[in-house]
Amino acid sequence: MNESPSTVCVIGAGTMGSGIAQVAAQSGYATLLYDMSSEMLQKARHGISKNLNWLVEKGKMSAEDRVAAFDRIRFTEDIAACRASLFIEAIVEQHEPKVKLFRELAAINDTSAIFASNTSSLSITRLQEALPHPERVAGMHFFNPAPAMKLVEVVQGQHTSDAVVQTLVQYCRQMQKVPVVCKDAPGFIVNRVARHYYLEAMRLVESGVATIETVDAIMESTGFKMGPFRLMDLIGMDVNLAVSQSIYDALGQEERFRPAQLQIDKVQRGELGRKTGKGFYHY
Ligand code: NAI
Repeated sequence: MNESPSTVCVIGAGTMGSGIAQVAAQSGYATLLYDMSSEMLQKARHGISKNLNWLVEKGKMSAEDRVAAFDRIRFTEDIAACRASLFIEAIVEQHEPKVKLFRELAAINDTSAIFASNTSSLSITRLQEALPHPERVAGMHFFNPAPAMKLVEVVQGQHTSDAVVQTLVQYCRQMQKVPVVCKDAPGFIVNRVARHYYLEAMRLVESGVATIETVDAIMESTGFKMGPFRLMDLIGMDVNLAVSQSIYDALGQEERFRPAQLQIDKVQRGELGRKTGKGFYHY
């Protein structure tokens, strides 16, 4: 029933999905990129093309490889066309839509197809318990921007088989990534540790101790590639708030994980960061 043993289907053509699709195509996989929004697919097509051109201009990729990589990607709005051996979903950071999507895909794909979620914080175990054949469900957490960041957390839920974890590790290596296998826990490793990078920075600003620009400048001068506010603008305020909320809830609403009012206000105003042209900074 699968299209080919090496087809990777990425669902969600936003910030992460478009980057993951680019990585898969560059690694030689026949790649499907599905989104329910034609506008997002158009944007992703344009973004991937621009990124690949940039690699050629920088001498990091040949013109032939650029064409071959781009031609490996099929952009689709038709879920019935989504037949693959590996699915990586990068849709909205909410449990129910992810379950609904995987159920639809499970109904039209072989039981051996692997379902990986790029979730930053949601429980993989809870996700797999809502799906048929839970042993083939796992987390595959890429970092932003996916083509540049090497790390991928491969998350083993309570029901994920060892064989599936090993297959995902192989996929990561083929994609020139560095896989780290971790257990299912709120925020996994990186987002759990990094939560305070964002939250404490926002609390400093809320309490008038320092400005956004000062916090960013100081953190960058101490060696962080991006200050917390610049990084939140890159991630997307809506996504970062959803992750904060989900970790806060999953850890019994511990006070130190409470989402900051500053980020709640930003999301309410639609100032989501780079993707909307305004966040903590203007773009
Ligand atoms: P985004 O908002 O940029 O893109 C989400 C895309 O999914 C949109 O194009 C939307 O049209 C599409 N979509 C939503 N529901 C859909 C459905 N049911 N079927 C098909 N397409 C659907 O979001 P982003 O930032 O790419 O995040 C996606 C996932 O990746 C989230 O789970 C997030 O937590 C995770 N993630 C985000 C990171 C970031 O820095 N933004 C980093 C690592 C993980």
